[in-house]
Amino acid sequence: MGTVLAVANQKGGVAKTTSVASIGAALAELGQKVLLVDLDPQESLTFSLGIDPEDLELSIHHVLTKGLDAREVILATEDGVDLLPATIELARAEAELLTRTGREHVLKSVLDQLEDDDVHYDWVLLDCPPSLGVLTVAALTAADGVLIPLQCETLSHRGVAQLLDTVHDVRRFTNRGLEVWGVLPTLYDGRSSHARAVLASIPEAFDLEVLSPPIPKTIRFAEAPSKGRSILGTARTTKGAEAYREVARHLVARAAQPEPGKPTKRAGR
Ligand SMILES: Nc1ncnc2c1ncn2[C@@H]1O[C@H](COP(=O)(O)OP(=O)(O)OP(=O)(O)O)[C@@H](O)[C@H]1O
Ligand SMILES: [Mg+2]
Repeated sequence: MGTVLAVANQKGGVAKTTSVASIGAALAELGQKVLLVDLDPQESLTFSLGIDPEDLELSIHHVLTKGLDAREVILATEDGVDLLPATIELARAEAELLTRTGREHVLKSVLDQLEDDDVHYDWVLLDCPPSLGVLTVAALTAADGVLIPLQCETLSHRGVAQLLDTVHDVRRFTNRGLEVWGVLPTLYDGRSSHARAVLASIPEAFDLEVLSPPIPKTIRFAEAPSKGRSILGTARTTKGAEAYREVARHLVARAAQPEPGKPTKRAGR
């Protein structure tokens, strides 16, 4: 598989789902083959890409808990990305997986199986639920990197520290190669001095890379999901869409860079 990125923050409403949909669409515009994975029983990603979860007979729940082939569930979307959709049933998966041996690896093995079946994606973006439960840990275990959207309205530092603790545990126990790709500032209002102060404080507070540019807060994002497209489709030339395109270009550049001292990315996998 190409690069697998988990978009995670257990704080709700920080634009995880919006970022997955928008970065996914931006990567597709760049000619990349992209799979988005909805790991949230709230099913917002699935809905926002124009699919009504109520119309779905099969979803990621069946893949994670019943061993169904992911190829039978993956859908193409109007945004040019593929989607492994979720329904409310995923809420049960969390409980079902809790008693399973190897539950942390359940998503990793799904992605490995796709690769074995010659289904290749350049990018797989994982939309995590707002919790640090089984599904988020499974996402971090399957991922090469984690991207942390952080709302610039509030100093939500404690939440990020908890997430970083979880990343640390995942590195120790289930995925040594997991790297934090950085914080993505979201819902950014550049006119607010508080927002500017929050943005400026991030590198020092967490010792993490801050991806640029910050994603501006704009009403256009609220409109996009009801149209079943990401903002890149509904408001092509707005600052928000452009910001996500620039972030996507940075991600592509980073994925192309071999890490010093590391084998070339995913070679041999
Ligand atoms: N840049 C933005 N400007 C304005 N509104 C935004 C922006 N990004 C996201 N939103 C809106 O903020 C809300 C929360 O966004 P989103 O659902 O992406 O967050 P989330 O982190 O996935 O939430 P949850 O934790 O519930 O999964 C949505 O209504 C979305 O449309
Ligand atoms: Mg979400």
